[in-house]
Amino acid sequence: MGILHGATVFVIMSLMTPVHSVLPGNPRVIDMTHTFDENTIYWPTLRQFKRTGVLRNYTADGTWREESDIEGAEHGGTHLDAPAHFSKNKWRSHDIPVERLMGPAAVVDVSPKAAADADYLVTAEDFQLWEEKHGKIPDGCLLFIKTGWGKFWPDELLYLGTNTRNTSLLHFPGLHPDGARWLVQNRGMHAVGIDTASIDYGQSTVYEAHQALFGNNIPVFENVANLDQLPAVGSVVFALPMKIGGGSGGPARIVGFVNKHEYSPPHVDL
Ligand SMILES: *[C@@H]1O[C@H](CO)[C@@H](O)[C@H](O)[C@H]1NC(C)=O
Ligand SMILES: *[C@@H]1O[C@H](CO)[C@@H](O)[C@H](O)[C@H]1NC(C)=O
Ligand SMILES: [Zn+2]
Repeated sequence: MGILHGATVFVIMSLMTPVHSVLPGNPRVIDMTHTFDENTIYWPTLRQFKRTGVLRNYTADGTWREESDIEGAEHGGTHLDAPAHFSKNKWRSHDIPVERLMGPAAVVDVSPKAAADADYLVTAEDFQLWEEKHGKIPDGCLLFIKTGWGKFWPDELLYLGTNTRNTSLLHFPGLHPDGARWLVQNRGMHAVGIDTASIDYGQSTVYEAHQALFGNNIPVFENVANLDQLPAVGSVVFALPMKIGGGSGGPARIVGFVNKHEYSPPHVDL
């Protein structure tokens, strides 16, 4: 196809379908990110997200201007935990090779168990049961744990178990330390994500699942949104945090790509 022809086709397609993905394969695109605003949930002891000095006005020369300052902890909202967060001499935010932050996604749904127990801990057995249905957790994948807690966002009381600053009152499910150790010893995922405020459960005080993953340079993503819109296997996710020099984590934009045919009857070639 010539350049002119291609451009013409593109223009016509754009006119016909104003919201049209131009990505190869025309996937369904899932925004797996909670908006950063005054309602964004941060770890209770950490500095909340704030946008200050908001300017929205015409300037003296009559042009429109909007700008503001942002502040907040590295660990809040949809964000990266870099391995250095709980493991000495491991990768900080800027050290993580970018290709480790993208790949096929595996989504392990433990939401029925978590619904029955807010302190539920995801075990190696949960991963093994998942593998019986969906095959081995792929090497180089981003492994997501779906607890169902995403539906509580941004209600702190439901999502964290408390809307106070008292961390003893935190209740939400997480990854069992033994489950984390099983993963790093037996499987080759590049990162692990969860739809709660922490990969360790709310009642954790020593953060052993963090330590097991980070000791093996496996980054973590927390407060991941819209996991219910991803299939167990077959999607691709890009989880791209802000590249903070020396950071222990940081805000992330996470995007999933789902092949539309995942949900269509199989196509028959004639
Ligand atoms: C916008 O600019 C006008 C003109 O300078 C000023 O009167 C007004 O107070 C400004 N509004 C805000 C919200 O800053
Ligand atoms: C935090 O909650 C725990 C558990 O209910 C309680 O024992 C403790 O006194 C509380 N701490 C503060 C500072 O309120
Ligand atoms: Zn964190």
